[in-house]
Amino acid sequence: MSAFEFTRRPRRLRQNPALRELVAETRLSAADFILPMFVADGIEEKREISSMPGVYQHTSDSLVQAVEEAAEAGIKCIDLFGVPLDSDKDAQGSVAWAEDGVLNRNLARLRKEFGDDIMIMADTCLDEFTDHGHCGVVTTDRHGNTIVDNDETVKLYQQMAVAQAEAGAHIVSPSGMMDGQIGAIRQALDAAGFQDVVIMAYSAKYASSFFGPFREAVGSSLQGDRRTYQQDPANVRESLLETQLDIDEGADFVMVKPAMPYLDVLAKVAEMSPVPVAAYQVSGEYAMIQAAGRNGWVDQDAVMMESLMSIKRAGADQILTYFAVDAAKALKG
Ligand code: PBG
Repeated sequence: MSAFEFTRRPRRLRQNPALRELVAETRLSAADFILPMFVADGIEEKREISSMPGVYQHTSDSLVQAVEEAAEAGIKCIDLFGVPLDSDKDAQGSVAWAEDGVLNRNLARLRKEFGDDIMIMADTCLDEFTDHGHCGVVTTDRHGNTIVDNDETVKLYQQMAVAQAEAGAHIVSPSGMMDGQIGAIRQALDAAGFQDVVIMAYSAKYASSFFGPFREAVGSSLQGDRRTYQQDPANVRESLLETQLDIDEGADFVMVKPAMPYLDVLAKVAEMSPVPVAAYQVSGEYAMIQAAGRNGWVDQDAVMMESLMSIKRAGADQILTYFAVDAAKALKG
């Protein structure tokens, strides 16, 4: 006999692991994860990125090995970024569409090695390849201000996307936040006969300080900032506009980035999107969890899984995360 006659006792469903598992609303799976990877030109051995422990600038050979390991862990998609030699960078980022450029060369190799066993996604953006570090063509407007020229940049994205498709990318992922980029890239791909190449659009991408460690990862020395093309962290409405535009222009997936500091944005985008919604747990999010874990301040594995669970619960169908392989292994137990 109890002292009370409570009708509702929510604790009833939390009694034991089996019951909790039975009523779990959100489940993570290795198939949700997309692993971002870096391949660098001119290095003899893979190099660990100091602000991202466990993440490497790969050589071509170590990349193939790492993709194999990811595939074995159950990962279905990797996202490849190229790190060119400094001497190959120029104002336009022309090595981005060169057939023998570091990114295209390695996309081709991966497609040859893995066929359709794992989806090969390419980052379709110029900042890794330009000497000024901006995501597009830098010019001066009629008032003398330095600007990134939207439409000239979009033309270069078209070339880059076609080169990536030619190399064998299954998915291109335009991340430069230029207006009209998705429609223009879709047109260029179709005109070149690549109707089957998928576009994952970085739709809601913020001018975020959480990208810090990524700059080390790709050896980029950005002059200035990206606030005239990436979104203001103060805003959520324009994310819905950006997402709607990308869907209208033909995006097969849309994405929100960063993830954890923008779960409200993610939830709203997930509510309105008729196409799959991905979220990118970025370099700074990864670095913070690693740093706290290495200091013994949090339980790293537990925080890793909780962060991924939260991102999925908020509405992400796919999660780009540097933890992809670790998390996939943890799920296998
Ligand atoms: C642009 C791009 C960036 C990231 C992914 N694509 C950098 C930026 O926009 O400044 C950041 C990813 C991360 O921080 O993990 N090519």
